[in-house]
Formats: sequence, structure tokens, C-alpha cells
Amino acid sequence: MKTTTKTIRLAKGERALACLTVYDAVTARIASNGGADLVLIGDSMGNTVLGFENSVPVTLEMIEHHTAAVARAKPDALIVADIPFAVAHDEFSAVLHACARLMRTGAEAVKIEGGVALAPLVTRLTAAGIPVCGHVGLQPQQVFQLGGYRKFGTTEGSDEVESVIADALAIERAGAFAIVGEMLSRPLAAKLRDELVIPLIGIGSGPTCDGQILVIHDLLGLTEKPPAFAKPYANLGTDAVNAVTRWVTDVRAANT
Ligand code: KIV
Repeated sequence: MKTTTKTIRLAKGERALACLTVYDAVTARIASNGGADLVLIGDSMGNTVLGFENSVPVTLEMIEHHTAAVARAKPDALIVADIPFAVAHDEFSAVLHACARLMRTGAEAVKIEGGVALAPLVTRLTAAGIPVCGHVGLQPQQVFQLGGYRKFGTTEGSDEVESVIADALAIERAGAFAIVGEMLSRPLAAKLRDELVIPLIGIGSGPTCDGQILVIHDLLGLTEKPPAFAKPYANLGTDAVNAVTRWVTDVRAANT
């Protein structure tokens, strides 16, 4: 059955959401057939499959191209497209136009990194019929500002804890249907999950969330250096190299 933003919202407190980042029709089909609730065309494509150092070089055109491929697989999972670096900080009409392009391509919602400062934008987008998933805590598009990737909210009662909570609540009030919480300390994730009415989908934030999201390449063992929190459930990278090695050997043996 097709998953909608309503299905995702109503899952809170009922069952854990299992979400995957995918970039093409093959991985979308695998994720959806495996039972994933949501597939994200994430800007992590920059470092995972496009050979960049991070997600900053990823453009709207790249997200659009990969969203079209995912949509062609017609997954039952909800299709969510990432809004890439800097786009959400443009004039409203430009952001609306970018979201509309992704929705016309097959996205059923968009994900936007950011908090309080972007809440007015989220209010206007949801009013325009564009479902929004928030993204708080570590926001990889801020990598140059942050000077690297790190955990958020490790000191209880700190300003950082309060500001992540304020970000998430502002985005919820603005009409988001779910929020990704990346690299949150366990106590912060637990507090946020309890304060939010919408699902908190964690990544690198421990089990006290309403669900998890992972990049499918990390799950399948296709990434050379997966993040420490991503437990591989297969070793397809090694299997693929072994298959190619056997094929190369066969070709060389048969073509003498
Ligand atoms: O780009 C991405 O894949 C993401 C998820 C890891 C949350 O933002």
C-alpha cells in the first residue's frame, strides 16, 4: 500500500519508522520491496555516489535527476527529495519554484535542513501544498560553518540542547510532518521525541527516536568508510569485487 505523509505522521507511538536514503530506481525498488516506509533522495549523494567530499556541491538539477529515477521505480515508500545547499535561503518564490520542480518530477515531499530561521518558509510551503520534513541537529550542509561533523547536545541543559529543541518545535509548529534528528545525544533525542507530536526520525542519534534513517549504501556494505553508527547488514562491496574478479579471470581464460 502506498505510504503517504499522513501514514508517517500517524505512525508516531504506534510503530517505528524505517527510512532509507536512495539515489536511483534500483535502490528505490530494493528499499521499498524490503519494507522501508520512506525513501529520501538525499544530498548525501554528493559524498556517497558522486565522488564529492560533502553535500555542498550537490545542485537542484542533481536532486531532480535522481528523484526522477527513484519515482520511475514507483515505490510504495513515501518519496522525499532533499532541498540542496543554500536553496532554502533564497527568496520564497525561488524556493517554491525549486520545490515545485521536485514535486513535478515525482517527489511527494521535501526535506529541508534548518530550524527557527526557516520556520516561516515551512509555513508558506506547507500552505502551498508542499509537505515538509525537517532536519535538525547536525546539518551536513553547514559543514564549513561547523568545521566538521560532530554530535549535538552532549551537555545536558546547554544552550545547544535548548536551541535544537527550539528548532524542532518551530519546524513542527510550521507544519512539518516529520523531523530528521541527526547526531543527537541520546538524552536529547529522547527529550525531543517526547516533546514532538510528529515523528522524530533519527540518524546517529541512538534508539530513542520514532524511527531511523540510513543511507542504503551503508546498510548494504557498499560504502568504503561508513559512519560508525551504521551497522552493515550485507557486504555487497566485497561481493561485487569478487564477482568482477571471477569474471575478469573467466574472460582472460576464454579469450586466449
Ligand atoms: O542526505 C541524506 O541522505 C540525509 C539523511 C542521511 C538524513 O540527509
